[in-house]
Amino acid sequence: MSFNWGEIADRIREKELSVAARNIGRIPYRAIDGRFDDQSENISWWTNGFWAGLLWQLYGAYRDDSFRTAAEDIENKLDRVFLNHWGMDHDSGFRWLMTAGADFRLTGSEASKNRLIVAANDLAGRFNHAGRFIRAWNDSGDGSRAGWAIIDCMMNLPLLYIVSDLLNDPRFRQTAILHADTAMIAFLRPDGSLCHIVEFDPSTGARLRSHGGQGYAHASSWTRGQAWGLYGFTLSYIHTKKPEYLETARKIADRFIERIPESRLMPVDFDQPPEPDYEDSTASAIAVCGLIELSKLLGEKYLSAAEELLTALTENRCRFDRGCDNILEKCTAAYHDSWHNGAIIYGDYFYTEAVLKLCSRETFLW
Ligand code: GLY
Repeated sequence: MSFNWGEIADRIREKELSVAARNIGRIPYRAIDGRFDDQSENISWWTNGFWAGLLWQLYGAYRDDSFRTAAEDIENKLDRVFLNHWGMDHDSGFRWLMTAGADFRLTGSEASKNRLIVAANDLAGRFNHAGRFIRAWNDSGDGSRAGWAIIDCMMNLPLLYIVSDLLNDPRFRQTAILHADTAMIAFLRPDGSLCHIVEFDPSTGARLRSHGGQGYAHASSWTRGQAWGLYGFTLSYIHTKKPEYLETARKIADRFIERIPESRLMPVDFDQPPEPDYEDSTASAIAVCGLIELSKLLGEKYLSAAEELLTALTENRCRFDRGCDNILEKCTAAYHDSWHNGAIIYGDYFYTEAVLKLCSRETFLW
C-alpha cells in the first residue's frame, strides 16, 4: 500500500484536536488502554517535551490555536526543572528544543530564547574535559556515573549548535563537536552498530568499557540507540558540515537498513531472540526521521528505506481514531523492563515529524 502523507497528516491533526482538548494540563509519557498518563508532578522526566513538540509541529502545519496554548502551558511548567539540579541531565535538548525551541522558531518569543540559552549552559556544563564527552545521567553525588556517556546524547547536541548561532558564541558548538568526535570513536563498532553506554575514567578520560544499557545484551544492537545515533550524527553533519559525521551516519544507516526485518516492524534489539516478540515502534519512527534527512544528503536509497518503515508503521501500528490518545502502538522503553509493546509519547512525536517531513509541512526543530 502507498500512502498520501498529506492525508495522513490531516488525519493526525483531526485526531489530535480531540486528544489535546481532553488532555489539557497533562504532560503525557505513556498511554495505558488508550489514555495518557500525566507527568506534571514528575516534572524533570526526560520525555516531558515531546507532547509539546508534537503540538508545536501541528501548530506549525495548521495554525490551530488550541495546539499552541497547550504547548505553551507545558513550556511554562518546565521552568520548575531549572530549579532542581538533579532533574537536569544530557536530555536538555529533548526537553527544551521541543518546547522553547519550537516556540522561539514559530513565535519569536524572547522568554523561550532565554530558556534555550539557560538549558544550553547547563548541558555544556556537563562536559568532561579529560574525556571530551558530555556526561549522561546524574548519580547520588558519589561519582559512580561521572564517567558515563550515552549515544542518546547525540540528539541533544543541536541545542548547543542552535544556541551558539543565537549568541554568536562558538563555545557551545565547540563543546558539541568535541562530544561528537569522541562518540564517533567510542560508540561506533566496526560493523556500523553502536553501543548504548560508554564509561570513561572521569579523571583521566580513558575509555574503560561499554555497558549493555536498554538493549538485550552487552554487545547487542538496541534499535532505538541505533536510531538516536543515525539521526544524531546526521544532525551534527547538518550543523557543522564535518564530512566524518556524514560518513558515520551513512555507516550506521547502512547497517540499520541491512538488519530491518522482513515485516518492516522493529524489534527492541536487532539481536534479541524471536520470543518474546518485544517491539519498539519508536525506534522505527526516529530512524525514519534520520533516514529522510540523510536521503537529502546521500540520495534515494535512504528515502526508500524510510518510506518502507513508515508505511509498515502506518499500516500496522497506528491508531488514528479520536477516542484513543496515542498514535503509535507497540513501543518499548527498554528490553529488560517489565512493560513492553505499549504507547510512548516520543513515538507519536517522531511519527508525526516523519509524516510532516514527507509532505513538506514540518517545522525543523533540530
Ligand atoms: N533517552 C533514553 C531512551 O531512549 O530511552
